[in-house]
Amino acid sequence: MCGIVGAITRTNCVPFLIDGLKRLEYRGYDSAGLAIANMEDHQIQRARSVGRVSELELHAAYLDARLGIAHTRWATHGIPSERNAHPHMSEGKGFAVTVVHNGIIENHDEVRRRLMVDGYVFHSDTDTEVIAHLVHQKMVAGADLLAATQAAAAELHGAFAIALISSNAPNTLVAGRKGAPLLVGVGDAELFIASDASALISQTKKIIYLEEGDILCATDKNLRIFDARGNLAQRPVVTSQLSADAVDLGPYQHYMQKEIFEQSGAIAATLEMVSNAQSINPELFGADASPILNQVSQILILACGTSFHAASVARYWLESIAGVPTVVEIASEYRYRESVCLPNTLVITISQSGETADTLAALHHALAMGVEHTLSICNVPESALIRASRLKFLTRAGPEIGVASTKAFTTQLAALFTLTLVMAKIRGRLSGPQEGMLLAQLRHLPAAVAKVLEIEPEIKKWAPLFANKEHALFLGRGVHYPIALEGALKLKEISYIHAEAYAAGELKHGPLALVDSNMPVIAVAPNDTLIEKLKSNLQEVSARGGELFIFADRDTKLTASPGVHVLKLLDHAGHLSPILHVLPLQLLSYHVALVKGTDVDKPRNLAKSVTVE
Ligand code: M6R
Repeated sequence: MCGIVGAITRTNCVPFLIDGLKRLEYRGYDSAGLAIANMEDHQIQRARSVGRVSELELHAAYLDARLGIAHTRWATHGIPSERNAHPHMSEGKGFAVTVVHNGIIENHDEVRRRLMVDGYVFHSDTDTEVIAHLVHQKMVAGADLLAATQAAAAELHGAFAIALISSNAPNTLVAGRKGAPLLVGVGDAELFIASDASALISQTKKIIYLEEGDILCATDKNLRIFDARGNLAQRPVVTSQLSADAVDLGPYQHYMQKEIFEQSGAIAATLEMVSNAQSINPELFGADASPILNQVSQILILACGTSFHAASVARYWLESIAGVPTVVEIASEYRYRESVCLPNTLVITISQSGETADTLAALHHALAMGVEHTLSICNVPESALIRASRLKFLTRAGPEIGVASTKAFTTQLAALFTLTLVMAKIRGRLSGPQEGMLLAQLRHLPAAVAKVLEIEPEIKKWAPLFANKEHALFLGRGVHYPIALEGALKLKEISYIHAEAYAAGELKHGPLALVDSNMPVIAVAPNDTLIEKLKSNLQEVSARGGELFIFADRDTKLTASPGVHVLKLLDHAGHLSPILHVLPLQLLSYHVALVKGTDVDKPRNLAKSVTVE
């Protein structure tokens, strides 16, 4: 979802701006643009285009300057078009201000009305354009670019990150954040800004994470950062752990494919501290985790999309293994619902990006209701979610570029299972031998994941059978029901096949009416205590002419027959079986998308990091 880059460089900044935008492409966008300020002749030039950054690159080939800002836009206010693409510009009284923006200005209507009364003419349908005119208006009244931006930011409501340049301040870059991420890359007499670190690593590993409300003012000589109250602030420079390799495609055709096959290593990295320990301990979740987790009497987990599915799996584990009453709720619902929060509730937020607007808002809602115990499970250190939570667990999946979440999901599950063991131990529900056995299951997980992924050639053969289908049904039971939900989400988001998932016991309460020979039914069928129940549900499908695609365990007693396709997973993982059973579903959606020729890594209408409501 919208990406910002900006730079003050020693030579032409345009190649960096284009490279930075390309590295942010994974976030999702539909148009792109950039503006540069020529320090010598005080001119601002702008290039914008609909579609890919490579299109913008052609338009911007002739541009040359040492100061610039650039943007990928994911449309919210106004259709994807050149006139709605950023940067937006305000011109008049002999100078121009131009801005790029990530997020939403909630009071844009009211600000627009005031600016129109003052004679400002709007050229786009975006909320962003009000920022350009508002800053311009304040500069006309005598403020410099920094003061005008600070004053404008104070009038704007919503969550945003912005970067501005002006022909009146041709060697100055001003940028700030309030609710949306913005990072500074410190180079050798150069400075870069970007929405995330992946856009900066080609230039520098020295990163400053701006705090909420910070506004920076940079020239080629110095950098000043002001906090939300306008005071000069010191922010630490940290060394990013991100390596260029981590965001390169390597030998793979798509990031999703790369990330599916990285899961064994990602889980091993996430579990490193756990696997090396003789016993499980609460400090894995923070130095002060022990006293907090000891007080917890119930858990509420808030998340969106795939992260919500991870939460839903965890609910089964936390209740059955640790005996902790657990509720799971979609963050966008919770944030606006009047709910009752019991004392000693641990509120867990789960997010790959740590910047998902709904999840962040849900956490703030919980805090506003007086919740004291918060834990975030997240893949991005320094993300807003991690910073807002008392306890934290960082998954170590590495950057996930494909919009369809894969390795983030399985590493979240590894983290949640670890939490389950911690809670079980605290509550006296884990004997020494049980602890040893469950730790052994966790240690075996990376190897089991690698083994199960060997199923890929078989799944490739199934993919063409889905290519001309318009609908698909996923079934699962118990802890594997959320895995069916996740399988359906994967298939719909990258292959555009309408897919729904049901707890298999619900089939006869409605969805069975959909089943005919055109409805492929995909079943998650581990050899667990519910397998005989599931087999009955699958009989109901076969009896109505439905075609079954079953992912079973090595020892599940199920055989293929006409209309019944069966693939068996090559390894077991005990309680961790959901982590293994999601793998073939990821592979299936990937290969169906390949057959259909969709844009696997950047599916239509979707963004990687959903930083708006
Ligand atoms: O970054 P988050 O985990 O908070 O993102 C939540 C969802 O937007 C995300 O999981 C989304 O559902 C994925 N694209 C699904 O593959």
